[in-house]
Parts: sequence; C-alpha cells; structure tokens
Amino acid sequence: MTEASRERESKIVLALDFPYEKLENRKTLLKRAKKVIDAVSPYVCAVKFNHHLILPLGVFNGVKKLLERANGKGLPTIMDCKVNDIGSTNQVIAEYYYEAGFDALIANPFVGWEEGLKPVFEVAKNRLKGVIVLVYMSHKGASEGYGQMVVDAESGRKTPQYIVFAKKALKWGADGVVVGATYPEKIREVHMVLGGKIPIYSPGVGVQGGDIEVALKAGAAYLIVGRAITMAENPAEAAKRFRDVARSVK
Ligand code: XMP
Repeated sequence: MTEASRERESKIVLALDFPYEKLENRKTLLKRAKKVIDAVSPYVCAVKFNHHLILPLGVFNGVKKLLERANGKGLPTIMDCKVNDIGSTNQVIAEYYYEAGFDALIANPFVGWEEGLKPVFEVAKNRLKGVIVLVYMSHKGASEGYGQMVVDAESGRKTPQYIVFAKKALKWGADGVVVGATYPEKIREVHMVLGGKIPIYSPGVGVQGGDIEVALKAGAAYLIVGRAITMAENPAEAAKRFRDVARSVK
C-alpha cells in the first residue's frame, strides 16, 4: 500500500462497487469493472472489492481476472467481506480469498480473538497477507454497536467500544483499521490510540458525505471512495479529482 500510494501520490482506495445487475448482464458488468480499473489506475493506490462483484462474477472467475488486472497495474487489492463468523469458518473464508489473490481482508472485531479472528490472522501470516479491522463504521447505525459504552476488560473502565477495538487492533497486529470519514472526531481519537502504528482507512467520502480534508487532518491515511467514482460519467476524472484534493491537504 505504502509503495503504491507513494508512486501515484494517491491516498484513494477505489471501492469497485456497481448497482445490482440482472445475471444475464454479467459479461457487461465484468467489462465495466475492467474499464474502471484501467481508467482510474493512475489515480488510486488500491482496489477494494465487495459483494457487488463477488456475488455475480464469482471469486475464482470474473473477480480473479479483475484482481490480476489490478495487481498487474501495481495496485494491491482488499476484500471487504467483514469476516464475522466462528474461527473455523473464518479460516476457510480467509484461505479462499487469499488464494484468489486478495492482498488483505476486512474483518469484524465483534467476534473476538479466540475461535474468532485469531485463525484469520494466522492464515494471513502464513500467506504474507494483510488483515484490516473495523473500528467504527461510516453509517448512522454504527453508534448502536461500535459507539456503545462498554467496560474495558483490561482497564475495568467504561470505554467506547471503538476505542477498545482500536486497542485490540494494536494488540492483534492488524495491518489497518477502518473508521468512517463521516465521523472525523472518532478518526482523531482512534489515531491517538494507534499512535501512527496502524494506518486508518476511511470510507464515506463522496456519496456518504464525509469530507476528505477533515478526515485526513484527523488522521486518516487512506480514503475509500466508491460510487462517486464508479458511477461518475467520467470515472478517471472523478478519481483524479479525489486524488488531487487529498494531495493538496498538508
Ligand atoms: P461509497 O460508494 O459510499 O462506498 O463511497 C464505500 C464502500 O466502502 C464500504 N464501506 C465500508 N466498509 N467499513 C467498511 O469496511 C465501513 O465503515 C464502511 N462504510 C462503507 C461500502 O460497503 C462500500 O463498498
């Protein structure tokens, strides 16, 4: 990530998301996704996939082709599967996604470590891949889970859940954390906890209303942008615009 970001002077992670398409249009969807990767690759530092393409195209079919395309352009790839099951299932999920060629997976810390995310980190370590942990999501309902007050088992003090997750991300050796750009004050707090040791990925700029400059100044390292690029009339121009705005933030 660091290398791709430095080379392109870009902190923008493309979320390669498209609206629902009828299955008979799968070929068109694949072509459209390829076109967007080709067009925006000079302006982004990674490509994030979600179920939008995994479900219609299949991990070892269309998506594998897209991963090869992105990797061929020097772009790392992230699977936003928010791994969230028991450890034995998580292990299988991780093996398949890494096998397909993903460089990192996003995982949900609510399942905990033992018999939860530990196997995911073990698979990642064996395969030299990454794990990015959710800390505070970008949507309104995030306050109900990530924002609730809990008793921190280590300090015994009442602490917001997302602060506990940020500390766990450090303890577990996560390669990144996700904090929504729609909550810059939370980015700032999490950044303080992480002390610059783990990069913060921030989705929620563009359609969800988060502000690039505010998120970066609060401590986000990368900005995840989806529909504002993929649905733009000219995705390359849109990606360049996001890249340039982020680049101008000192
Ligand atoms: P848009 O179109 O809103 O897409 O720019 C954002 C992309 O990021 C995903 N997303 C998240 N992923 N934690 C995540 O791991 C979050 O808090 C979060 N918020 C949005 C979203 O599914 C889409 O792919």
